This record gives sequence, C-alpha cells and structure tokens, in this order.
Amino acid sequence: MLLSFLREKLRLTGTKSGCGGGGCGACTVMVSRYQPATKTIMHFSANACLLPLCSLQGAAVTTVEGVGSTKSRIHPVQERIAKAHGSQCGFCTPGMVMSMYTLLRNKPQPSMEDITQHLAGNLCRCTGYRPIIDGCRTFCQEDNCCQANGAGDCCFNGDKNDDEAEREKPRLFNNEEFLPLHPTQELIFPPELILM
Ligand code: FES
Ligand code: FES
Repeated sequence: MLLSFLREKLRLTGTKSGCGGGGCGACTVMVSRYQPATKTIMHFSANACLLPLCSLQGAAVTTVEGVGSTKSRIHPVQERIAKAHGSQCGFCTPGMVMSMYTLLRNKPQPSMEDITQHLAGNLCRCTGYRPIIDGCRTFCQEDNCCQANGAGDCCFNGDKNDDEAEREKPRLFNNEEFLPLHPTQELIFPPELILM
C-alpha cells in the first residue's frame, strides 16, 4: 500500500498511520492525474492506506511534506488551521491539511459546503472540529453567517452595536495577517507524466 511505502521506504512520516482501513483520514494524500480527453489535471484526496502502489501508474502523489514545512515556508492551509487552534495533538492535522489543500487546488474559493464535504472523511479526537472549520472557512469568499445573509437573530448579534465591546472581543487571528493563497505558486504536475 502507498502508506507503508511512504512511511517505511521513503521515510516520509508526515502522512500518518491511523486506522489502516480507510476510516480516519489521517493518511490522506493528494493524487493528481492528467486527463488526456479534456487535457486537464484532476486532483483527488485519497487514503494512502487503501491505495495499492500498482494503481498509481501515471499519477503524481503529493504528501504533506510537499505542501509546506516549518523549515521552508508553511502553506496558508497549515498556517490558518494552526492559528485557529485547529491542531491540538496534531495527529489528524496532516490529513486535514491534505484534504483542504486538494479542495483548494481544484477550487481556490470554496463554499462552506465544499469544505464540510471535503473534511467529512477526516476524524479528529481533540478539537471538536470547530477550530479546524474556522481556519478553513477563511478561504471562503462568501460570508456564511446568518447575520450577513440578513437573518434577524444571529449568534453574532450580541454586542454588534457596541463598537467598544466589539473591539475588545478576544480574537484568535486577524484574517488580514494570513499568508495569501497563490494557486499559481503551487507545485506543478510533472510534465513527464503528461507525455507518458
Ligand atoms: Fe485511517 Fe488511512 S489510516 S484512513
Ligand atoms: Fe488531535 Fe485532531 S488534533 S486528533
């Protein structure tokens, strides 16, 4: 399977081994394939514990090591999940990052529905998911809050007319300080695999 090849042969241990049976998402990687019919490159998130190596002929595999690192530059997905406190023990984090990263490669401005769908296969025992979603939703262009959608009562309505109280509310992060997402600067699909 791809998971043991990555961890034991290549020593790329960022991809975690959890359930080993497709149930937890800790081993999520991105698999990319060139589609000759449409001349496009499709990206899929996949559980490495379920992927036989022989099924990957002609495919490019991206692991969390290829996305970003504290030694070089962390990726905006990693930064936002971390700053929203979406990583506690951290075991699920590489899988969460890879599911979100794959979504952004296919759709740089996802909706909330896209995000919840793409993270549905990733389990987290620590965070309760909310901080992970909070970090990931900063990539949405639309505002999903009921307040913004014109609903009368909203969970954020509390002190909304009180500017001072609003300023004093503790915030984990400031969206404007995040690293920007530049889809054009992501790893390219290996040209050799297009010619195969
Ligand atoms: Fe749990 Fe692969 S290790 S889905
Ligand atoms: Fe511990 Fe998600 S942070 S399992």
